[in-house]
Amino acid sequence: MVWPILLLAPLVLCSPSTANWPVPTDACALIAGKKWVSPAEARACLYMAPLNEDIRTNTIEVLNKTLAFHTSVNYQISAPEPFKSDVHEDLHADLARISTQKYSSEFEFHLDIFHAFRRVNDGHCVALNYCYDSFYVSYLPLPLVLLTAEDGSQDVHIAPEAFDVASAEFGDEIEFWQEALPANLKHKLESLSGARVLTINGQHPLVSVNANAKTTGGFQSFGTRQNAFFSSYHRGSGGWEYVMGNFAQHVHPLVDGVELVVQRLDGEGAIDIVSLPYRSRFGSGSNNFTDFASYRANNCLATPKTNGHDLYDAKVTVEDGPSAAAYFQQQPPVDPREARQHPMNVILDASPMTNIELPEKLQPALNPLNESYSVAEFFLLNDNTTGVLALGSFSAAKFSTFQSSLHKGLKGLKDAGAKKLVVDVTNNGGGFICIAHWLHRLIIGRSESTEPQAGLDTSMRAGPLAQAIVQKIQKGADPKTLLSYNAVQWTNASNDPFSEGDSVLEPVLKKLINGHEDAFGRRLGQECQPFAEEPPAKGFFLPEDVIIVSNGRCASSCSLFSITMAKIHGVRTVVVGGYQDTFQHYAGVVGGQSTDFSTIDTEIKSTGLKNHTLAPPDFMTHSVQGITWRLGYGIWDPTEPEEWQDHTADLNFHVTAETVNKPVAIWEAVAKEIWEVEQEEMDDGHSFRLQDGSDFVLA
Ligand SMILES: *[C@@H]1O[C@H](CO)[C@@H](O)[C@H](O)[C@H]1NC(C)=O
Ligand SMILES: *[C@@H]1O[C@H](CO)[C@@H](O)[C@H](O)[C@H]1NC(C)=O
Ligand SMILES: *[C@@H]1O[C@H](CO)[C@@H](O)[C@H](O)[C@H]1NC(C)=O
Ligand SMILES: *[C@@H]1O[C@H](CO)[C@@H](O)[C@H](O)[C@H]1NC(C)=O
Ligand SMILES: *[C@@H]1O[C@H](CO)[C@@H](O)[C@H](O)[C@H]1NC(C)=O
Ligand SMILES: *[C@@H]1O[C@H](CO)[C@@H](O)[C@H](O)[C@H]1NC(C)=O
Repeated sequence: MVWPILLLAPLVLCSPSTANWPVPTDACALIAGKKWVSPAEARACLYMAPLNEDIRTNTIEVLNKTLAFHTSVNYQISAPEPFKSDVHEDLHADLARISTQKYSSEFEFHLDIFHAFRRVNDGHCVALNYCYDSFYVSYLPLPLVLLTAEDGSQDVHIAPEAFDVASAEFGDEIEFWQEALPANLKHKLESLSGARVLTINGQHPLVSVNANAKTTGGFQSFGTRQNAFFSSYHRGSGGWEYVMGNFAQHVHPLVDGVELVVQRLDGEGAIDIVSLPYRSRFGSGSNNFTDFASYRANNCLATPKTNGHDLYDAKVTVEDGPSAAAYFQQQPPVDPREARQHPMNVILDASPMTNIELPEKLQPALNPLNESYSVAEFFLLNDNTTGVLALGSFSAAKFSTFQSSLHKGLKGLKDAGAKKLVVDVTNNGGGFICIAHWLHRLIIGRSESTEPQAGLDTSMRAGPLAQAIVQKIQKGADPKTLLSYNAVQWTNASNDPFSEGDSVLEPVLKKLINGHEDAFGRRLGQECQPFAEEPPAKGFFLPEDVIIVSNGRCASSCSLFSITMAKIHGVRTVVVGGYQDTFQHYAGVVGGQSTDFSTIDTEIKSTGLKNHTLAPPDFMTHSVQGITWRLGYGIWDPTEPEEWQDHTADLNFHVTAETVNKPVAIWEAVAKEIWEVEQEEMDDGHSFRLQDGSDFVLA
């Protein structure tokens, strides 16, 4: 079935005017089988399908009815401070508008929905479609970074490692860009690495950074969304990865090129104007096609995984393999059985996790401890007193191996002489909830705040259909305890387990949120203890000897960990990078437990409620809807969700050309800034506190 691609594409391309051949109008056939195309070519294919009214009605109905299970929809109409200016999107109103608006294509319709969901700035709440999102991914070989000079001034630069990254990742395609450079720079792409960027498309770079911050979504805090523009690193399950950032990587082929005015490092102050096209690469999750019809058939229609299924229907067999949402979840692949067993809190993004390698010269040159496993790497810095846990996710393939490796790794650091601990959670999108609780409990030790609950209490939303599901389960609809709404697996606010027949929702708490009546289930308590493995009674490090470092892009289970560590124990938080006049949040998008449409659909189908008037139908398209299913209560204000409370970092650490995207250089510098300066201040008799919520920078 592969060879016709090779045969057909050249025929159509080379013979457009041959009388026997029709004029090629199939824009998808033109690009079939090609790894790289221009954004315009990819667009022409993606825009081919007109909007079918059945698909419109179906899509809107699924999204709208599934929102009834998303905890935050009424909060997001107008979030409380400090997110008032960041989150103000009424998704039900958007869907009402989109249900009647005219669209020239299905892609245009999808983009309207996609952007509406992105505007809630909540990485748990997304509407994605395999037919369009990251189907082709557009790249420029010029990832950008924000550097701070000695005098404190900040400038956008092409990343010093830009050429290394691009030439390793893009292979021969780099020649396309080499040729596209202006005459004086032809074949000198490498000379742009490190260059200062004076303008982007004729405007100050900040204009582009802020325009992107308004549309990129994913995080409530504006500063965190600004940081998405720039490149960064990530500890992946198989090694250190490079995140290109939103300037150099687009999830849709909508932009053809960019014009930069730059000053090269070796250009002796000369100014260059560089116009460079984006190139679109066939997505890693996209299925091959030969023409428009097979593009649609192989990528756009619901698969057996798109929708849920009745767990009690013996006739339904569900094949193994990742869930529909897995590709977009910001965590490494997890064994699907483990994913069902251990609740998750993880963000989704339209671009899957990167598999671009962090250039070797930026990677830690230290030997990781042997206890390191997957996304968790342990190091002892050369001062022999600072231990580092680089933790790229709260998920790894095997829950129990991951759990014990965290224990052994912390012990390994202590045995090696570590007195202090840096936890680097850069680009950590969450994962297993109970790994977050476990790591907190391990580091701090046994205390009132870690046993039995080392996380946050939560609530589910209690709409009429959720209540109907719970009532069915109370009447015996889930004899094998397979469903998430079954009370048996939860505890109440005093951390006592429920009994069979109890309700996880009753008594329902009624609320008025932004003028809308809302209802939440009863407060739920701890969900992880006793842990399968016994943690030591004594903590591994004192809270004042721990710092949590990231680029602010720490979400979901990462937020559960960082926020409890910071707010309960006073562990200090550091955000690396970012504009200095912007508040930098060390975590965001807290949630409590995230889930998706197909999981909710399984609850509905398994309790025989698919015929309920409020039940969403099955998706006709290969779509994914992410939601926050449980919302965690706050620490400073325990009566309101943590989601909308402040997470300003203690310290904002600014990077230079010498430290940017170099984990070890950052750990050493941050450790020095926090602990050495602190020691000096204490020696001078000054008290040292940074917990004032300001983005304090030490000279
Ligand atoms: C898809 O096409 C590419 C390039 O033509 C080929 O290398 C790959 O094996 C194909 N994949 C499948 C699943 O057929
Ligand atoms: C969405 O659902 C709400 C009920 O939650 C309903 O009032 C509204 O009409 C629906 N909107 C659309 C566009 O179907
Ligand atoms: C760690 O692993 C390496 C390579 O497998 C081995 O040579 C070394 O002895 C191990 N170190 C310890 C402390 O076990
Ligand atoms: C750290 O330990 C190593 C190995 O014992 C030693 O060679 C080195 O000098 C020590 N470094 C410092 C800063 O004490
Ligand atoms: C939790 O359940 C226990 C045992 O049934 C009960 O004694 C306790 O009052 C309950 N706590 C709350 C907050 O409902
Ligand atoms: C839903 O309704 C249809 C038609 O009324 C019926 O055939 C079907 O059995 C019902 N399904 C469930 C799960 O109740």
